[in-house]
Amino acid sequence: MENELPLDTGLIEISDATQKTYWTVRDSVEGLQIFGGIGSGKTSGSGRTFALKFLEHGYGGLVLTAKHDEKDLWQEYCRLTGRIEDLVIVEPGGAFSFNLIAYEASRAKDKQALTINLVQVLKTVIRANKEKSSSRTDDAFWETALDMLLANTIDLCLLAYGSVTLQLLYEIAQTAPKKLITKPDAEKAKDSGKPNAFANAYKIAMAKIKGQVDEWKKTLSFSEKAAIRDDYHYTQLVSEAQPDVRRMNAIASFFNHTYYNLAEKTRSIVDFSLLGFLYNLLREPTYSLFSRYTSNFIPEDCLGGKIILLNLPVKDYHKMGQDSQIMFKYVWQRSMERRRVNENGRPVFLWADEAQHFLHEHDADYQATARSSRIATVYISQNLPNYYANMGGQTSEYKVKSFLGTLGTKIFHANADIETNEYASRLIGQAYMERRQISSTIAGDFSSTEQLSYELEAVFRPEQFVGLRTGGPGNDYQVDGIMHMQGKRFSGNQSHKKLRFNQHYKLQ
Ligand SMILES: Nc1ncnc2c1ncn2[C@@H]1O[C@H](COP(=O)(O)OP(=O)(O)OP(=O)(O)O)[C@@H](O)[C@H]1O
Ligand SMILES: [Mg+2]
Repeated sequence: MENELPLDTGLIEISDATQKTYWTVRDSVEGLQIFGGIGSGKTSGSGRTFALKFLEHGYGGLVLTAKHDEKDLWQEYCRLTGRIEDLVIVEPGGAFSFNLIAYEASRAKDKQALTINLVQVLKTVIRANKEKSSSRTDDAFWETALDMLLANTIDLCLLAYGSVTLQLLYEIAQTAPKKLITKPDAEKAKDSGKPNAFANAYKIAMAKIKGQVDEWKKTLSFSEKAAIRDDYHYTQLVSEAQPDVRRMNAIASFFNHTYYNLAEKTRSIVDFSLLGFLYNLLREPTYSLFSRYTSNFIPEDCLGGKIILLNLPVKDYHKMGQDSQIMFKYVWQRSMERRRVNENGRPVFLWADEAQHFLHEHDADYQATARSSRIATVYISQNLPNYYANMGGQTSEYKVKSFLGTLGTKIFHANADIETNEYASRLIGQAYMERRQISSTIAGDFSSTEQLSYELEAVFRPEQFVGLRTGGPGNDYQVDGIMHMQGKRFSGNQSHKKLRFNQHYKLQ
C-alpha cells in the first residue's frame, strides 16, 4: 500500500512516571476537539503541537481559516517540517483555482448524477447558513422547495445547454415565472421586454425535446403508431423512450405550476436564499477562485500529501469566505470518503480553528466514517455556546453534544465559560474521593478522632479550568490542557491527563 503510516504510530507522547503511552495516528483519525477561552493557548499551544506532528508525519490536509494570520502560521509550520512545497494557498490573486462545477461533472457518471451531486453540495451550504437561526416549524417544507428549485434549475440548464454554470443558475432562477399580482401594468410591460434567461433556456430545451420526439416518432412502425390510444398514452410512451422528455415534463410542471403557485412569502424566502448564496459565489474573489477558471488543484491532491489552505478568512471575507469554505470543505469530505485506504493509506487532516464558522448538517455523519477514511478532524473553538449559536440556537444542545461525541479526543484549556467547564468536568467524570474529618471534643479530657469517609465528587471541578496556564512570558510559554479520550484510561486509572504545551515548540 502507498503512503502507509501504521495506525499505531505514536504522534504525541502522553507518558508519565509509570506508563509510556502515545496519542497515535489511530487516535488522530477519531477526531480532536480543542476548547479554551480567548487567549488560552488553543492556537499557539495545543494547535501548534498537533499541526506540526501531522505535518512531520506526512499527513495531507485541508486548512480552513477564520483569521488572517493563519496563512503565516501554516507557512511557518510547513517550513519547520520541510513541507512548504506541499502547501497550496488558495487566495485572491493567487496561483490556484478550483472549478466546482467542472469537478463535480468529472465525478458524475451522467447528467442525472451531476444534478444530484450539485444539489447536494449547494443545498448543504445554503442550509448551513440557515442552521444558525433557531429551528422553524416549516423547515421540511422550505427545504423541499429549495431542493426542487435547485434540481429543476440545474436540469433545465443541462437540457438546454448541455452544461451548467453558476451564472446561468443564478439568471435562470432569478427570471423564473412569477405571479405578477402586485405589479402595476407598466411594470409588467417593462418586465416582458427584458431578455429573460429562463425563457431562453426553456425555449432551447423545448426545441431540443421536440427534435428528440420527432426522431422517436420516425422510429415507430405503422402498427406501433396505430396502437397509440390517446394523448396521454402517447406522452407515456415517449417519456419512457426518451428520459429527457420526462425531465422536461417535470421541469415544466415545476416552474409553471408548483413553484408558480407557491405562497408569495415562502417563494421569496426560497428565492432569496438561493439567489443570495449564488450572488456571493459569483462575486469576486470567490468567482475567480471557484468557478471562473479550470481547476489546477483538486481535493484528491491531499492524498498525495498536499496541504490546501483556503485563505479567505471569515473575519475578513465574512459570509462569502464562510460559504465558499464550507462548500469546499464538503466537496473535500465527499472526495476523501471515496478514496480507497487499501490503495493509499496516507492520513489527511481537516483543520478548522474557530470551527463554529464551518459546520454543516452532514458533519456528524462524516465524522462517523472519518476513521475508516483516515481523516483526522481537528476543530478548535472557544466554548459550547459558540457551537449552539451556529447549530440552531437554544434548541441545539442535544445536536451539539452528540456531534461532540463523534470526536474521540478533547482538550480543554483555561476557560471562563461555565457551560464548557461543566461539560468538561462531567465528561471527565466522578470518583470516590477520600475525605478526612477530624473531630475534637474539649469536654473533659481533650480528645481528637480522625474519620475517613469517601464521597463521590467531580475528578476535575469546573472552576479548576479557570486556573490553567495560558502561555506567554509569565508562564514561561507553557500552556496547560486537560485531555480526555473516549474509552481511554491514563495511568492511575485516570480518565483525564494534564498536558503541557510549549508555545515555542519546534519538534525535537
Ligand atoms: N508565539 C507566542 N509566544 C508567546 N506568546 C504567545 C505566542 N502566541 C500567542 N501568545 C500569547 O499566548 C496566549 C495564548 O494565545 P493563543 O493565540 O494561542 O490563544 P487562543 O486560545 O488561540 O485564543 P483565541 O481564542 O483568541 O484564538 C495569548 O496571551 C497570546 O498573546
Ligand atoms: Mg486562536
